[in-house]
Amino acid sequence: MRHFITLNDIRVDEFHHILELSATIKHQVKQGEYRHYLPNKMLAMIFEKQSLRTRVSFETGMFQLGGGAMYLGGEIGFGKRESIKDIAEVLSSMVDVIMFRGMKHQSVVDLAEYSTVPVINGLTDSAHPCQALADVFTLREIFGDLRGCKLAWVGDANNVAVSLLRASAKLGMKFSVAAPRQFQFDVDKIDKLIGEDKVEGFEIELTEDPFKAVKNANAIYTDVWVSMGQESEEEKRKKILSPYQVNSKLMSAAGRGAIFLHCLPARRGLEITDDVMDSSQSKVVQQAENRLHAQKGLLVWLLNEAQK
Ligand code: CP
Ligand code: NVA
Repeated sequence: MRHFITLNDIRVDEFHHILELSATIKHQVKQGEYRHYLPNKMLAMIFEKQSLRTRVSFETGMFQLGGGAMYLGGEIGFGKRESIKDIAEVLSSMVDVIMFRGMKHQSVVDLAEYSTVPVINGLTDSAHPCQALADVFTLREIFGDLRGCKLAWVGDANNVAVSLLRASAKLGMKFSVAAPRQFQFDVDKIDKLIGEDKVEGFEIELTEDPFKAVKNANAIYTDVWVSMGQESEEEKRKKILSPYQVNSKLMSAAGRGAIFLHCLPARRGLEITDDVMDSSQSKVVQQAENRLHAQKGLLVWLLNEAQK
């Protein structure tokens, strides 16, 4: 059974194919053509954490593809009222695909182990592959071929950054990460995170200097300083990460024509200023919309093609 737990679950050619498929489906929708690629297919979505984009994009996506989606929140008592194994087996008997957003990455790994239908990671503490898929889809729309494209990450090297690191390796992008030492990637673990695929053009730069990271960058990306589940560290994180705010001064140090990306939700006034969020350089709404299109490509590939 093929799952989508991290970007390491797909090969480079499959990554390109999913992006192409997503572009085709987006184009069809923009022409008013809603093709039912997944008639009667049902997606169960398990949420241990809050969400706007992930829920709305998966639910809308499944509806547009001719199927349906169901929200399962705290009431199912994931791993408490019932074991992950029992939940996986019961859901597999009734639905065609499962999406999980949760605390521990191990939970989605366990879910996939016991599930006989494909499982999609909708964010865990250590990865957000659906976000990275939509992000590179957005970069492709704006810049075309991504080989050599420079993406600068500024702030906490978190779950979203891990998935973007993997995406950069697979698509041959330059990934420059500016973070304080406590919240930076461990250089010795980069190879393990990436896995086997390192496409020509891929480069990684780790620095404490945001101005160094954004130099000649095509896109500047940031995310919240306090991710879901890290609330007890809020004060400490805000203090350490405050020099990593993306503001107009930092944006003007980037390459000409650089865009701004954020997975959202954003804490305006902390990691990002209003003027950058609301500037013409900001592509955050296009990026959010692309969660819908990229995930439709992923769902069609995973259910109609990948299991053969
Ligand atoms: N970017 C993202 O995953 O948004 P939500 O947390 O609102 O789903
Ligand atoms: N890093 C954030 C991303 C939210 C979409 C979090 O995990 O809360």
